[in-house]
Order: sequence, then structure tokens, then C-alpha cells
Amino acid sequence: MKIICVAGTRPEAIKMAPVILELKKNKSFDVRVLATAQHRQMLDQVFAVFNIVPDIDLDIMQPNQSLPTLTARLLLKLDEVLQLEKPDVVLAQGDTTTVMTVALACFYLRIPFGHIEAGLRTWDMENPFPEEMNRVVAGRLAKWHFAPTESSRGNLLKENVSPEKIWVTGNTVIDALQSVSAVQLPLDLPIDKSKRLILVTAHRRENFGLPYIEICKAVKHIADKNSDVQILYPVHPNPNVKETAYELLDGHPQIILCPPLDYLPFVAAMQRAHIILSDSGGVQEEAPALGKPVLVLRCETERPEAVDAGVVKLVGPNFDAIVKECQLLLDSEEAYSAVARGVSPYGDGKAAERIHKILSEYAAQCA
Ligand code: UD1
Ligand code: UDP
Repeated sequence: MKIICVAGTRPEAIKMAPVILELKKNKSFDVRVLATAQHRQMLDQVFAVFNIVPDIDLDIMQPNQSLPTLTARLLLKLDEVLQLEKPDVVLAQGDTTTVMTVALACFYLRIPFGHIEAGLRTWDMENPFPEEMNRVVAGRLAKWHFAPTESSRGNLLKENVSPEKIWVTGNTVIDALQSVSAVQLPLDLPIDKSKRLILVTAHRRENFGLPYIEICKAVKHIADKNSDVQILYPVHPNPNVKETAYELLDGHPQIILCPPLDYLPFVAAMQRAHIILSDSGGVQEEAPALGKPVLVLRCETERPEAVDAGVVKLVGPNFDAIVKECQLLLDSEEAYSAVARGVSPYGDGKAAERIHKILSEYAAQCA
């Protein structure tokens, strides 16, 4: 059975890597890796960490790419390559433009498509934008829905997906994290160990402009008010984020701005962090497993499990809420220990094994 595993961006590569490595163990599978390279440098960084060399590389990324152009270019190139490759199964993970276009290309070509991290929903098409639409489309078109949690399974059932097409596997992000985080990883940055480290990431399109300026101002305010705090902010290369971050935060003595960290140093930074401020999906899943509190710079989340467990809090891209909640965690040991608990609602590290088993059973049926 020929399986094409697709990844376009950093988080897809991190979450697809355990699946690729697991499927490659099966000698009856011909596993091919297709990089759309919707992200160029950040995708390459991750594949290098996991020693994965893409078999096909569409090299799609353009500077500050627009969504319609990206979508159109992806669809044309995917159509060409899938017609040539004729896979039996295509797998993609998550909710990026890569995933939505892969699902659509497979639908047009009648290739069975498996969606990893299926069933996440905010039920608000504008938030996150455009990811909610991407995952709804991928969900409509998938033959296999590999849902990370019972709650994501429930979302799919609400959309009338047949129960026999849904498997709760856990999220492969935990497989990836467990494969690297058993030890404290090295972090080659000028971290001041006498200070408490706050790690920041941000990149969501719905936060571009004023919301993102509020986030940066709140980060600066927290640094100004807390001399015992150091802030590490690996800045996403999207120009809409990067320009504002450097304009508002560069040169502050307690703030380290740096390019995106490779996956291992980033996990090292999470391990060392006292608090994490982030609008990232993946970070909301990883940080609880590492026992680190996250203040989510969004008003809603498709990952309610950690919020319900009380280890992640939604603060929105809102200056007052970010400053207030962060200060509470810095000042109150009681508030801090209530949220800094190691829980892993997103998986047990065996998601890739489960996906492998399901596809092996399918291969046996087809044989
Ligand atoms: C994309 C996904 C988002 C995901 C995020 C993970 C879409 C629409 N967005 O957002 O769902 O959460 O990735 O990070 O699918 N760039 C580089 N080098 C890189 C990567 C990006 O220079 O390695 C710059 C380029 O100018 C590029 C821009 O960032 O055009 C935006 O990249 P894009 O993939 O369109 O959107 P992201 O904001 O990265
Ligand atoms: N990450 C990384 N380097 C960084 C920031 C994040 O390797 O500088 C990893 C992080 O561990 C997580 C993933 O990237 O697994 C999250 O990606 P991102 O926030 O870009 O996308 P999202 O998860 O929001 O789609």
C-alpha cells in the first residue's frame, strides 16, 4: 500500500513525524513524504530533527503569501503530483491551508484521505482564521478521522460523521514530545538562571494588527514591572508578526527576541519556562504535559480539555487580562501551583501506533 504523508508547516511536520517514522517500520507499506513547504525554513528545521528527508518537495512558500494565492498554487501542484504518484492513501495533519487543499485534491482524484488531529472545532468560522474552515473542509472529505480526544470525536459526531469512521488516537504531538523530552534539553541562549523565564509565541492571523500590538505592549509591561523576570520570545517569521515584535520589543534588557527555535531548543525553553504566553495550538497541547501554565492569547480555543483541567487559561489578545493573569501567577504561589500541574489530556504518546494499526487493518482488508 502506497501512503503519502503530507506536511507543509512546522506544526504539521512535528505532529506528522511520529506517524511517518512509525509507518516506515511496516515493510509492506511504501511510505512517501510530501513536503508542500508552505513553510520553508521552519519545515526544514523540523524534518532535520527527525531525520526525515521528503521524497517530494513542492517548494510552495512565497514571502508574505496571501491565502487565495497559496491555496490556488497548492491545489495545482498537488493535483499534478498526486496524479503522478497514484497513492492508495494520503494522510495530512491539522488545519493549515496545506491540509485543506490536500483533502480537496484527494477528493477530486478519489484518493482515500486520512485526517490526523480531526474534529477540533471552535464553531466560529472566523476564529481561528482560516483554520476553522480548513478543518471543517478536511473533516467533510476524510475517510479516516483520527481524533485526538473524546471531545473532538464528539464534535465530529455532531457533524454527522459516521462513528465507524472516527478513531480516538490521542494527539501525535505527545508522541513527538515524549520522544525528545525525557531529559532536560540544552538551550544555547543567554538565559539568566536567577530570573523566572516567561516564554512567548504568537502568530495567529486574527491577531494581526491591533490585537498583536496589545500583546507586545503587555509583554513589555510585564518585563518593566518585574525585574526578576526574563522573557524569551522566538519570533514567527510571518512579516505581519515579526515587524511589530521587533519594533515594540527589541532592545529591552529583559527581553530576548530571536528567530524561531529549532524543535529541541524550543522544548528546552518550555522545560525551563515558568509561564508560557502563546496563541499556538501545539504549545497548548505540549505545555500541560510538561507541567507549564499557559495563558492563551486568544478568546476561544478548539482545545478545551486543558482549559477544563485548569492548567491553561484563555486571556485573549487583551492587555489588561494578560498583565493581570500573568502577574497573579508571578505573585501567588498558590495560584501558580494550582495551574502548574503535569496533565496530558491530549495523548499518551501512542497515537502513531494506533494510526498504524488502523491503516494495517485497512491494508489487510484491501489485500
Ligand atoms: C501557518 C498556518 C497556521 C499555522 C502556522 C504554524 C495557514 C493559513 N496558516 O501560518 O494555521 O498555525 O502556519 O506556524 O495555513 N515564513 C517564512 N519562513 C517560514 C515560514 C513562514 O519566511 O519557514 C513567512 C513567509 O513570509 C510566509 C509567511 O511567513 O509567506 C506566512 O506563512 P503561512 O504559512 O502562509 O502562514 P503562517 O502565519 O505561518
Ligand atoms: N515550536 C518550535 N519552535 C519555536 C516555536 C514553536 O519548534 O520557536 C514548536 C512547538 O513546540 C509546537 C509547534 O512548534 O510543537 C507549534 O507551532 P506553531 O505555534 O507555529 O503552530 P500551531 O501549533 O499554532 O499551528
